[in-house]
Order: sequence, then C-alpha cells, then structure tokens
Amino acid sequence: MQVIIDTDPGIDDAIAILYALRHPGIEVLALTTLGGNVGLGVTTRNAGRIVTLAGVPTPVHPGADVPLGREPRSETAIHGNDGLGGVAFPDPTVAPSDEPAVAAMARLLRAAPDKTIDLHCLGPLTNLALLVQDAPDAAARIRRVIAMGGAIDEPGNVGPRAEFNIAHDPDAAARVLAAGLDFTLIPLDATRQFRADAAYLDRLRATGSPAAIASADLIDAYFAQTEHQAKGSESRPLHDPCVPLLALNENLFRIDPRSLGVELDSGALVPGPHAIRVAMGLQADALRSALSEGLAE
Ligand code: BDR
Ligand code: CA
Repeated sequence: MQVIIDTDPGIDDAIAILYALRHPGIEVLALTTLGGNVGLGVTTRNAGRIVTLAGVPTPVHPGADVPLGREPRSETAIHGNDGLGGVAFPDPTVAPSDEPAVAAMARLLRAAPDKTIDLHCLGPLTNLALLVQDAPDAAARIRRVIAMGGAIDEPGNVGPRAEFNIAHDPDAAARVLAAGLDFTLIPLDATRQFRADAAYLDRLRATGSPAAIASADLIDAYFAQTEHQAKGSESRPLHDPCVPLLALNENLFRIDPRSLGVELDSGALVPGPHAIRVAMGLQADALRSALSEGLAE
C-alpha cells in the first residue's frame, strides 16, 4: 500500500516510521512534518534522521509550525528537547524538501489513481485540515486516513477528557472530521493496551536490526522518563505504531462505528454528527510480534 505519513517525531512516531519504512507491505511516498511534540524545525530534522537510520530514501516535507489559531503546547517532558528521548540517530543525509507538506500531499494525490494513497496521521491534524481547506479535490482522492488521537471512554492525557493530538489543534480536528473522509481513529482506549516490557526490548535488540535496536532504545527512553515506573515494568503506551500496524493487521483491532465531534474549548472528543470508525481494543501480544517482525526486516 502507498502511504504518506504525517508526523511530529516524537519517540513513538519514530518507532511507527521505522516500522513503516522497513515493512515490505508499505511504500512510504513522503513524510510530512508539523510542530507538535516539539517544534517544526526539530520534528523535520528528526524525520530526516529517522529516514537515514532506516536506509530507505524518502522525501521529507515541512508543514504547519503552529496549530490553526491558537498557541501550541509542547510535550518535551515526555519526548525530550530533541524529540527522540536523547537516543543516538545519524544526521540526515538529505535536506528537507523546499516543497511544503500540503503542496506535496496534493501533488502526490493528484498524480496517483483515485483512492490509492492512504494518509497515516501520527500527530495533530493541522496539515490534513489545511489540505482539506486548500486542496479539497486532492483530499477527496485519499483512500483512507488512519489517525492516532483522542480518548473516547478513557481519561485523556493532557486534560480530563483530552488527548494531545486532538487537543493540540482542536480546530483542525473538527475540520477534518467534518470533511467526510474515510477516517479510522485509534484513541487512547486502544493504545493504552499496547506497551512493551524489558523482555520485549531484549527481543528487539536480539534481532540485530538497526531499526529494531533504535526502537528498543527509544522505548527505553520512554521507561527512563517515567519516574514512577521501575525498570522491568511496562513502558508508556506505544501510541503511534498502532497506525501502520492497523493498516496491515486490521483483524488484530476491535473497530466500532462511532459518531463524534470535537469540543473546541477542551479538545475532547464528544458525541457528535461525524460517523467514523474507532479502534476501541487490540490484541497486544500479536501486535507486539508483528511490530518486532516488521522492525527486523
Ligand atoms: C500522542 O501524542 C504524542 O505525544 C504521541 O506521539 C502520540 O502521537 C499520544 O497522545
Ligand atoms: Ca505523535
């Protein structure tokens, strides 16, 4: 399948990107970046560093710096100032493209047969909202959007009901939901069921693959930054890898139809008029195996 990955790397973004780049079932046409976990300059540079480590040449297109009409929030407490938890990645061997994210998305979508390119959204939905606004004909050509974000029946992670990717730019999320795209959301309800323990990191490292070893180091950084979690317990949720994993293994997720909207003040998802598909559960053991196998490619 052909995919554009929209991302703000980000520790768990990096694992998702490494998995998608290395997996033979996914052809990543481009990485489009935005400010989110950390600022746009850092997320764009990180995308180049991840591509270089993966050894799969892929263009990187910088996108939105800030949310639509509000102040950004930052997640450096979780992802570190460098966005990758201090894990050693090579410098990018190729500079980011001069073509901005939305222009690149529109060009790729218009050039391909209708409904053949998927969009994997690992961060706030700002770039996709701008595509819908500036190039609606191109947005209508997307086959399927799979996005990590939101909290449905679970507490949020940046507010009582608010999850970071939606709450960082609720206006963008509202515009995207209203666009009528084929949209599958993976909220905290599912991603909190998907974590790693120390034995899993040993398995990743034992593969000898650079992408798997880097992923183990990234998950280790997740442990290190979780003060109350002793080494040997489970990591923070591996949110973003759920996106490419769902693309390839939909049978390992429980997907329910939901009708949702966005509460703009709080950034919470609430019952509303937009019918989408929502992953509410997953088979964690099988997905951990799929992730390690893909990273070892
Ligand atoms: C989401 O927020 C980011 O910090 C993670 O990369 C993930 O995309 C989880 O709420
Ligand atoms: Ca992310």
